Amino acid sequence: MGNDTLLQVKDLVVRFRVPGSKYRPTFIRPVNGVTFSMQQGEIVGIVGESGSGKTTLGRTIVRMVSPTSGEIRLRGRDVTRLGRRQLSGYWREVQMMFQDVYASFNPVFTVGQQLRYVVNKHRDQHRQDVDVELDRLLGVTGLTPPDVFRRKLPHELSGGQRQRVALVRALAVMPKLLVADEPVSMLDVSLRADVLNLILNLRDEFGLSYLFITHDLPSARAVCDRILVMYGGRVVEIAFADDLLDQPLHPYTQRLISAADFAEDSGLQTAPPAEDAGQVMAELLESYKGCPFRRKCPLAMDICETVDPAFRAVSPTHSVACHAVDDAVASEARGSLQ
Ligand SMILES: Nc1ncnc2c1ncn2[C@@H]1O[C@H](COP(=O)(O)OP(=O)(O)O)[C@@H](O)[C@H]1O
Ligand SMILES: [Mg+2]
Repeated sequence: MGNDTLLQVKDLVVRFRVPGSKYRPTFIRPVNGVTFSMQQGEIVGIVGESGSGKTTLGRTIVRMVSPTSGEIRLRGRDVTRLGRRQLSGYWREVQMMFQDVYASFNPVFTVGQQLRYVVNKHRDQHRQDVDVELDRLLGVTGLTPPDVFRRKLPHELSGGQRQRVALVRALAVMPKLLVADEPVSMLDVSLRADVLNLILNLRDEFGLSYLFITHDLPSARAVCDRILVMYGGRVVEIAFADDLLDQPLHPYTQRLISAADFAEDSGLQTAPPAEDAGQVMAELLESYKGCPFRRKCPLAMDICETVDPAFRAVSPTHSVACHAVDDAVASEARGSLQ
């Protein structure tokens, strides 16, 4: 691990009881043995279909959900089991931007009031200094003139403006890491490109790191340094964005990519993910055995039924969890030794 390591997640497991299963409790693991790390200033994408555990992973890293087991470290410090008081300090460094931005605003307070409230909660500062800083952030995110936007109520903003205010609200705390859950999926294509550019500019200006959760691969390609693919609570592949999208190794990643239409400008065809309709992926059940993708996999073998494939590095920057890929890579390695 280099000195610039910001976040380390190791063997992270989150276990939930399925709602309504009180008398015969059934458990799922929407996060099931997740391991990865990220550097300061990096933008790491988490992609995968709806129900694969992306939001739960994000919420757990922000520590709005307590992990069942495993470890989360921020700049080397163990933050897996922080108490209430310590958590408020943690939230100065790690912020989350929610998928449903509109619901996260209070409708009766102005943008300025809500932003000031957040800053005051996290920092001791004079009101005048806070306003100067907020105006600067509003300006940076394109909400000009700032004093006009400060006086607006949430319903007076367009979807794109609301998304920007949500960014300002997260940034006002000056976090090191922003977990952004589907930040552009509610926006149409033209606005989407603007907000993605804004995300890149903010990384450059503030050295901000992002965990960028999305089911939209074109958006992930546009902003992410690396991409992590989730399926059934597991990470199945991690690589640099271009490597992952141009040379996907995992059969699930390959399927995701062939289902996405990269010819489209930035994924207008992708509807926002359906919000949970009470359906649980069978692969998330605690009793599930073997590779999470085996039932849909064209390469499935006997071993996939019983043994969950280990995550293995096929190059220093590309890792995958797949028995079939393991075999191909192993025989290639044997071949090069002869
Ligand atoms: N608090 C909770 N209690 C029980 N089940 C939950 C809870 N939060 C999420 N889940 C379930 O975890 C699974 C993964 O959901 P989620 O993390 O939202 O996936 P994604 O963001 O990839 O769509 C879903 O089946 C969802 O219903
Ligand atoms: Mg989600």
